[in-house]
Amino acid sequence: MVNTNILQEKSLLNKEKLPQHIAIIMDGNGRWAKQKGKLRVFGHKKGVKAVRDTIEGAAEIGIKVLTLYAFSTENWNRPKKEIDILMHLLVSSLKKELPLLQKNNIQLQAIGNLSQLPKKAQKELNEVIDKTKNNTHLILNLAISYSAKEEIVNAFKNISKKIVNNELSIEDINENVINNHLYTRNLPNVDLVIRTSGEKRISNFLLWQIAYAELYFIDLFWPDFRKKDLENAIIDYQQRERRFGKTSDQL
Ligand code: FPP
Repeated sequence: MVNTNILQEKSLLNKEKLPQHIAIIMDGNGRWAKQKGKLRVFGHKKGVKAVRDTIEGAAEIGIKVLTLYAFSTENWNRPKKEIDILMHLLVSSLKKELPLLQKNNIQLQAIGNLSQLPKKAQKELNEVIDKTKNNTHLILNLAISYSAKEEIVNAFKNISKKIVNNELSIEDINENVINNHLYTRNLPNVDLVIRTSGEKRISNFLLWQIAYAELYFIDLFWPDFRKKDLENAIIDYQQRERRFGKTSDQL
């Protein structure tokens, strides 16, 4: 059972106004390591602890969906050694964290060009996805080998095929149809994007899904990020007025 009271008792967090879907760009592992005179991979290893703490925090707070940007399609251009270690970390963490996912009733999902992953990573990922498929408290969605532009190109292709096969007419295309052809078709739109490391960009992450998301940039490298920082980001989000194009008076 997740203890959802702990964080509320001692914080300003409003449980009635939680973002449903939080997406995080976990940035700064390399710089964190460099600052300490270590190799970049040391930063990735320490980043796993931040991942664990953040997932636990999200479950405690009662967030419905947490998407973590673990590896972009552009990351395939990194040195092979770094890619190998990231893939190894992913596989070993999935194995190791399965009990945490089960204990906290967390369902694992993944988005991206997953067929590009090494076979071992695909197998491990699919096993954990399968073993957690009936969990309902939190969806942990990993973006791996992910590109938002590629996701949109795929959606265009699949919609076009349906038009050619007379399964869909051009007049039928609307926002829902596009949503339903994205990798995230079963997920709500993103309410809050968090990026660590001080960089202020989106880096090809969930471009369609963040159309009205609130953006939160924090000057911490990812390995130093903890559930308290997640909580602070949510408190900041809760102070904002989300107008969706309306005026304040209309809300
Ligand atoms: C960005 O830092 C981080 C990544 C590209 C990888 C994120 C991976 C992890 C935190 C570890 C494994 C993940 C899971 C889900 C178990 P960077 O390398 O771009 O850092 P820099 O910008 O300082 O170079």
